[in-house]
Amino acid sequence: MPEQLGTAVINLDIEGPTISRHLYGHFAEHLGRCIYGGFWVGEDSPVPNEGGIRLDIVEALRALDIPNLRWPGGCFADEYHWKDGIGPRERRPRMVNTHWGNVEENNHFGTHEFMALCELLGADPYISGNVGSGTVQEMSEWVEYLTRSGDSPMVRQRKENGREEPWRVPFWGLGNETWGCGGNMRAEHYADLARQYATYCRDHGDNKLYRIAAGAADGDYAWTETLMKQISCFGCEATPKNFFQGVSFHYYTIAGTWEDKGSATEFSTEDYYRTLVSAQRVDRLISGHSAVMDCYDPEKKVGLVLDEWGTWWNVEPGTNPGFLHQQNALRDALVASLHFDIFHKHADRLFMANIAQTVNVLQAMVLTDEQERLILTPTYHVFEMNKRHQDAASLAVHLRAEGARRTVGDTELRTLSASASVRDDTVLISLTNLDAEDPATLTLDLRGRSIGEPTARVLTADRTNAHNTGDAPDTVAPRPFTGVEPVANGLRVSLPPHSFVTIEAPLV
Ligand code: AHR
Repeated sequence: MPEQLGTAVINLDIEGPTISRHLYGHFAEHLGRCIYGGFWVGEDSPVPNEGGIRLDIVEALRALDIPNLRWPGGCFADEYHWKDGIGPRERRPRMVNTHWGNVEENNHFGTHEFMALCELLGADPYISGNVGSGTVQEMSEWVEYLTRSGDSPMVRQRKENGREEPWRVPFWGLGNETWGCGGNMRAEHYADLARQYATYCRDHGDNKLYRIAAGAADGDYAWTETLMKQISCFGCEATPKNFFQGVSFHYYTIAGTWEDKGSATEFSTEDYYRTLVSAQRVDRLISGHSAVMDCYDPEKKVGLVLDEWGTWWNVEPGTNPGFLHQQNALRDALVASLHFDIFHKHADRLFMANIAQTVNVLQAMVLTDEQERLILTPTYHVFEMNKRHQDAASLAVHLRAEGARRTVGDTELRTLSASASVRDDTVLISLTNLDAEDPATLTLDLRGRSIGEPTARVLTADRTNAHNTGDAPDTVAPRPFTGVEPVANGLRVSLPPHSFVTIEAPLV
């Protein structure tokens, strides 16, 4: 079995930009069993809950320090009318969720329930407003309802519904995928709407909204440019206008075609590598959007927000095709760890990222089964193992590993990936060996400061399609890792094939 060799030079004393904790953000849409049958079981459920919110999910997510939660969509956001989701539940109007399975939505999980969920999670709310089929007034009143204090028509309504004090809502989305399910608009038309809607999303009292314009799909850099032109001009050095503070884009990892995306658990080694090539592409996309933004905002005041990312497979056999329910294997975990290394590298521009989606949908953190068991996915464990990168100072990793490559079709996959950061005088180093078969030995050449005793954990399994179920919940779970040994000026790490390793050490 050939072994890949590499060196990673890390200057422990040269701190780069802060890794925004919001890169570890989440997304919960009214889609399939994410909200209903996921987060929300209702107050009468035998499943332990607080006010209808499932408590074991809350506990699991709190352990990730989740920084923010985006809601109510996705595509659903642009057909959601928030006033249908307040007041006594039995009187709330019903609607059809036309995007996701054509099922009836009873609006039992609405604004108050979402804000209660965020409070339980200790996460910042990121609300996606309706531009596609909603009005400016409707969006403006939602902001007023949520964030205004004192007395006003919306405040009185909120108080009648049991909430005296305003909430803090830091993040506000101006529509979603307005080039597609959010209204099939042209960039120019949406850019005007973004300015208009943003104008009436007021900052009430101390609540300062970070408004996020709905951005591009994948590599549609022209869309990003059209938005940036609304707030600045090519080559301008002045601070961009304040209509919106962030610009989003979406990118999903798929290995097949949109018509046949392949199975989450039944795949070949070739599919595995194609998946990782697709995941690696996010690096180029972030660079592309950032390059456009740099021309209009060289001081990087406007944040790039990847508010939907993750793997997208064919749904599990026998499940509703509109519910996007998929298993989650070790392969998904490595897609996540690769994304995080790339996110950390772009910490100067990338402000937020939201994996799609938190519970039971797409690349979920947790799955629930028919027996109401909670399953932590391999992806969950990557978020947990990496959580100390949140708000840490990034450290550049200079990786030399010429042999660590695989040819995949007409492209190449670099099979070693790494990132590092320092927070509270503790360094966290994340290492991924993407090679399906070969181990790798990586020498960490640590310069500038010395480290104390390291502790390390590994996430791997015998197969890349290994996954967790209600009967076998810990098939893929982090274990203590012994493949780290001290060498002059650093550490030597023996990475198993298809593995993710984190090493934490105090700086002394
Ligand atoms: O996450 C599922 C869907 O993917 C979202 O609703 C939409 O924004 C995207 O196309």
